[in-house]
Amino acid sequence: MLAAVRRGESATPAIAAVSADLRPAAQALSFHVLRQLGRAEALRRKLAQRGPPPAADALLCTALALAWREEDAPYPPFTLVDQAVEAAKRSPQTRAQQAFINACLRRFLRERDELVAQTEDEPVARWNHPRWWIARLQHDWPRHWEQILEANNRPAPMTLRVNRHRISRDPLRELLAAAHIASEPVGAHGLILDRPHPVQAIPGFQEGLWSVQDAGAQLAAELLAPGLQPQARILDACAAPGGKTAHTCELMPKAQVLALDVDEARCERIHQNLQRLGLHAEVRTADAGEPGYWWDGKPFDAILLDAPCTASGIVRRHPDVRWLRREKDIEQLAEQQKRLLTALWPLLRPGGQLIYCTCSVFRAEGEAQIRAFLAHNSTALLRPAPGHLWPRHAGDGGTLPDNSLSDDDGFFYAVLQKSALDAPARQDD
Ligand SMILES: C[S@@+](CC[C@H](N)C(=O)[O-])C[C@H]1O[C@@H](n2cnc3c(N)ncnc32)[C@H](O)[C@@H]1O
Repeated sequence: MLAAVRRGESATPAIAAVSADLRPAAQALSFHVLRQLGRAEALRRKLAQRGPPPAADALLCTALALAWREEDAPYPPFTLVDQAVEAAKRSPQTRAQQAFINACLRRFLRERDELVAQTEDEPVARWNHPRWWIARLQHDWPRHWEQILEANNRPAPMTLRVNRHRISRDPLRELLAAAHIASEPVGAHGLILDRPHPVQAIPGFQEGLWSVQDAGAQLAAELLAPGLQPQARILDACAAPGGKTAHTCELMPKAQVLALDVDEARCERIHQNLQRLGLHAEVRTADAGEPGYWWDGKPFDAILLDAPCTASGIVRRHPDVRWLRREKDIEQLAEQQKRLLTALWPLLRPGGQLIYCTCSVFRAEGEAQIRAFLAHNSTALLRPAPGHLWPRHAGDGGTLPDNSLSDDDGFFYAVLQKSALDAPARQDD
């Protein structure tokens, strides 16, 4: 897995390739490694200036990431060394390096405190994020960057969204409790589970009683729905795999929802999710930035633009993201977000609202994007919305004014209303 991420590939297929019985454990270990990779690489450089070939180096760094901090090491130190050497022996790609791996790890265990202290001043080792990422957060959030990085390195809880079209929250909570799954309410429709469970082991999945969705992500449909007529025309412009589309349909079962996504395979997942939950929306594969190809000319009452972004707010759940992104991605994605926002704005009826959101904590993909849009658009009015939400753990203190959420990912939300006066007349009136 680590070798794949270092080649620039997502960790997901590497973890999916592990046999089903070992997958949860493999994922837990992989995530632990990715959350400690900056430290592990710094320690490896102290142990050996020149690293071994890529497969052996990945194995060595994996063992260091799992072993370096005794309090959360998943196995006793000597078990980790033995297992790393055993793993090296088994693969032709690493067999020749087994003595080297053994020597490095044994030296590490002998000199652990001294070696760890030597890496303490290196920001990448201290925070386990790339240097540019740390600098960007320091620039964007001079008072909170440490809190964000700390939160990013902790595992996220499993949060469900209750399908209120089928069941309300309290009866679902009781159903879970009967299966020995404790949960706490979060937000308007969420339940945070005591610990992650396989979806199939939680009652009600096939019956469509709930979906897995972070508490921060559940705000999108809640910002969108109020004030709309039951049969409103709603566009979900970047919809796959359909989490926010489904939530919108759960809140507004009579609405005419058009769910677009440019990725055909991901559109299939929207269909599957809607079907399981007993909901309906029109799903189309199209570039939201080219409405000439798919828009029927009738303005929408509301638009949700959950734009493609760096995903810098959800690294708790996708710890590979920080190592895969490059700093130039921010500017490229911000350009793409601007293109979508500009193309979709004319499709909104006067008085209608566009919810812009990203799962990013970088200002360029949130606040700065919206400020630039407002500066060039006299028909857009900024309405109250959460703005930037930072990833947060229960008990870490509030980032939201009403403190209604806890343990949520990082997001940005803006609500833009089209002024009723300046805008062109509705075509369907
Ligand atoms: C953040 S994800 C959306 C998550 C989704 N809203 C949900 O809640 O499940 C962004 C999506 O935008 C899609 N996308 C990227 N560029 C697009 C474009 N030009 N037009 C439509 N969809 C696009 C991607 O395929 C991806 O599925």
